[in-house]
Amino acid sequence: MTLRYLTAGESHGPALVGILEGLPAGIAVTTADVAAELARRRLGYGRSPRMDFESDRLEVLGGVRHGRTLGSPVALVIHNTEWPKWTQVMAVDPPDDAEAAAASARGATLTRPRPGHADLVGMQKYRFDDARDVLERASARETATRVALAVYAKALLAEVGVTVVSHVVSIGEVAVPDDTLIPGPGDLTAIDADPVRCADPATSARMRERIEAARAGRDTLGGVVEVAAHGLPPGLGSHVHWDRKLDTRLAAALMSVQAFKGVEVGDGFRTAATPGSQAHDEIDAAEDAADDVGDGGGGGARFRRRTHRAGGIEGGMSTGEVLRVRGAMKPLSSLTQPLATVDVATGEPAEAITQRSDTCAVPRAGVVCEAVVALVLADALLEKTGGDHLAEVRRNLDAYVDDVRRRLPRPGGGEPAR
Ligand SMILES: Cc1cc2nc3c(=O)[nH]c(=O)nc-3n(C[C@H](O)[C@H](O)[C@H](O)COP(=O)(O)O)c2cc1C
Repeated sequence: MTLRYLTAGESHGPALVGILEGLPAGIAVTTADVAAELARRRLGYGRSPRMDFESDRLEVLGGVRHGRTLGSPVALVIHNTEWPKWTQVMAVDPPDDAEAAAASARGATLTRPRPGHADLVGMQKYRFDDARDVLERASARETATRVALAVYAKALLAEVGVTVVSHVVSIGEVAVPDDTLIPGPGDLTAIDADPVRCADPATSARMRERIEAARAGRDTLGGVVEVAAHGLPPGLGSHVHWDRKLDTRLAAALMSVQAFKGVEVGDGFRTAATPGSQAHDEIDAAEDAADDVGDGGGGGARFRRRTHRAGGIEGGMSTGEVLRVRGAMKPLSSLTQPLATVDVATGEPAEAITQRSDTCAVPRAGVVCEAVVALVLADALLEKTGGDHLAEVRRNLDAYVDDVRRRLPRPGGGEPAR
């Protein structure tokens, strides 16, 4: 792995922490860029007021000087503005007054694990009596760190003409009518402006109605998010080993997002029910070299696919066409009508803990999916190009793309260069 990252921190702890290692020097990113991306993660219909507490103060502690990366690890902290309320309950050291902390509403031992959360199995595995010791870290607040770190990955990708766009394709049973339409980089502003981050306004209105109905019924909803990457060169990832395949890495990244239970590359599940004659992307020679750069960025092959069914990945490598992956998010497990559980303190049947919860987190989960996809693509790019400075990444990529162009035969004749 060329670009790697770690996150740490509990949901109600003093801060979330992230480190991103392996970035080249010379990428322009400001703290304001990172803060803007964190604000995108807070967008979305179906949220609870609780999310206000997530507008927390960002601090970049290393890896960047005067707005440019240094090639050293990027270290950042997202401070928890609610921390003063949690200093005793989430104290790192034994609390000054343990009894008072335990007696407070926040400090009460949580013994009624929520189905669909890490609570019960985490208590079993780690020998905890209090579900808080599990849920604080299992919480999707952790994804704020990944969204923040991905800003650097996105900035690197942007420098070589790659843009990652996410949008919501379904919420509950309400889906966009034509799910073959792939939003481009120019659509991102409109998608972010939409309350559910859906590219189709009519479907967006129906999605919001569906969320309102779920909220009224004290229920929650899941959905499907698509992430498209435009401008990729062919050949990121590799067919030679399972863990080098780009689709392997993207699937793992999407599945690592809390509540994501399914991943699809291109038309993955649909093609399983489609005859082979209609399931693949037939190849044409591109007439004009200028027109052959994948879907608009750093492509370079003298070929075009007629369709995008494979999602821009063949044999574990990017094809240079638009890359398309989807993730299916389950409905949120914390309901205001609590599910049945067992009180682990007594062994008696009980109602699960009710935590304030959203009705639907699919819109902002899309921003998280976009982030984890960007981190994988930036890693795969650097693996292909190497480079300690952005200029070296660019130079190596250009040389590779140029080589791909020159080495393959021109349509209508012409000697390939060797
Ligand atoms: C952006 C985002 C927000 C989430 N918000 C909630 C929430 O408000 N309530 C909830 O019950 N689960 C929420 N989740 C999902 C839980 O974190 C997740 O279901 C839980 O940690 C168990 O992990 P698993 O579903 O991956 O097995 C959210 C997930 C994401 C990606």
